Amino acid sequence: AEATSEKLVELAKRRGYFFQSSGAYGGVGGFYTFGPQGASLKGNVEDAWRDRFAVAEGNMEIDAPTIMPEPVFEASGHLDTFDDMLIECPECETSTRADHLVEDNTEYEDAESLPIPEVEEVIAEYELVCPECGAGLADVAVENFNLMFATNIGPGDADPGYLRPETAQGIFVEFPRLKEYARNQLPFGVTQIGRAYRNEISPRRSIIRTREFTQAELEYFIDPENDEPDLSSVEDVSVTLYPASEQNSEDGDELETTIGEAVSEGIISDEWVAYFLGVAKPWYDAVGVDMDRFRFRQHLSGERAHYAADCWDAEGEIDGNWIELAGFANRTDYDLSKHAEHSEDRFTVFRQYDEPQTVERATVDPDMSYLGPEFGGDAQAVVSALETLAERDRTAFEGDTVEIDLEDETHELPVEKTGFAVEEQTEAGEHILPHVIEPSFGVDRLVYTVLHHAYREDEVAGEERTYLELEPEVAPMFVGVFPLQNDDDLEAQADDIVAALRAEGLSVTYDDSGNIGRRYRRQDEVGTPFCVTVDFETIENEETTVTVRERDSTEQKRLPVDGLAETLAAIREG
Ligand code: GAP
Repeated sequence: AEATSEKLVELAKRRGYFFQSSGAYGGVGGFYTFGPQGASLKGNVEDAWRDRFAVAEGNMEIDAPTIMPEPVFEASGHLDTFDDMLIECPECETSTRADHLVEDNTEYEDAESLPIPEVEEVIAEYELVCPECGAGLADVAVENFNLMFATNIGPGDADPGYLRPETAQGIFVEFPRLKEYARNQLPFGVTQIGRAYRNEISPRRSIIRTREFTQAELEYFIDPENDEPDLSSVEDVSVTLYPASEQNSEDGDELETTIGEAVSEGIISDEWVAYFLGVAKPWYDAVGVDMDRFRFRQHLSGERAHYAADCWDAEGEIDGNWIELAGFANRTDYDLSKHAEHSEDRFTVFRQYDEPQTVERATVDPDMSYLGPEFGGDAQAVVSALETLAERDRTAFEGDTVEIDLEDETHELPVEKTGFAVEEQTEAGEHILPHVIEPSFGVDRLVYTVLHHAYREDEVAGEERTYLELEPEVAPMFVGVFPLQNDDDLEAQADDIVAALRAEGLSVTYDDSGNIGRRYRRQDEVGTPFCVTVDFETIENEETTVTVRERDSTEQKRLPVDGLAETLAAIREG
């Protein structure tokens, strides 16, 4: 049988959900346009995400540029490590992801985590061929391919920039200002919904792997020693978990448990990650992901991103394959420490001690005479080394080493030996780098999964019908309004009803073409929860009533027009 995905992609194009972009020029792989229904569904999903992860959690939202200068990605590590493995066919020059080639054609399930020489060995051993032309790839070298799109900022190429590969960096880079908005109080969260760009080697499965996509990310900044999540609101959330230990064991399986149990049994070791999994699961349910086709899978150690300490993915099942919908990672202080190191700004937050503490600290000695000929008497070099430390809030303590650059040579010496006096001081607290917990959602994949899980085929009055059982909260169109026939009185009444429904904030489509059955089928395929038909009874009877048809059951009821908009608006609100 034709897979649901194939039928869905066709329906998506026909009904205005999504289609390949620049079709007039032959289309280009990995870029999709959301049509009127798709843009609306995606917007509703984004609004629902904002309500849950920004508003309800009390987090801030920002909107940063999508192009950032090169030093940002030097610091973040993306320039060096944000690579996929590429193999180019010597015959037809088609580029393929080497790890996907291996996974698709051998028993290896996690080829991404293998080093390049091993991937080359597997390709040779299995005599793998180019998926496009069938040429042998056994002797072809696998290369690292950086996924960032490069550009220039301003004329010339003096200032290289990159399209951000994740929205997260826009949050990390602005941390010195964002912490002020949070009045320097941890924990706090910052969200962003926006485009991310990755020059994927082989974009796949329509909007599931594209080169431009939307992420909804939350960066939640915590004090790793003092902040703990309140799990009480999520401990009873039931979850299907697929921990790394189960994936590694031969007869390993998914576990049915609750967030509370998973934490107490050590299955999820990071309580913050557990908290956000517990928030995410009911949210995915509410936007229409089928909970029988949903799980959280822990990353295997080789699979984790360069910054992550632990990571779980939310996964949805599509035609027998598990698709990553979101990642929940503990990024530790990786990003903030890198930006602190590479930039001039302060990325720390002040942690107040419960009680003032006495510490030994190196302070600047105004008399630099102790610097002997060994350092060329260059007191200034020592001063600037310590000042640099202080600027980064890494105050020098006894036992710290300081790097001093003198005449092209770097000297490392204990802070005491720099001649800076170490004195006892009473301090109220210290400057720390926050750690960050990151729930990172892909919006396009979620839209695809919501549509796929809503796709239904049934039979109504002996006729086959296709409909989308979308949740009213996210459905792009909420009501279809149809005058039964082309008749001025019916149309005038229908216009009034449309205006009343729109005044309630409902999205309404007006359709007067084709027989009524066809109009119902059209809205079924769009996934419109209700249709309202204005017929002669509406205008002839004393009480003005209309036929209201429900999408899933196709049941029809006669309801008074009076109060109809309010009733439907209440259903939309849930
Ligand atoms: N800031 C963390 C981060 O970017 P990621 O796992 O690389 O983590 C997060 O991406 C989410 O973005 C994924 O779970 C997925 O839903 C979505 N995503 C990643 N690459 C994508 C692509 N090429 N096309 C569509 N969605 C993608």
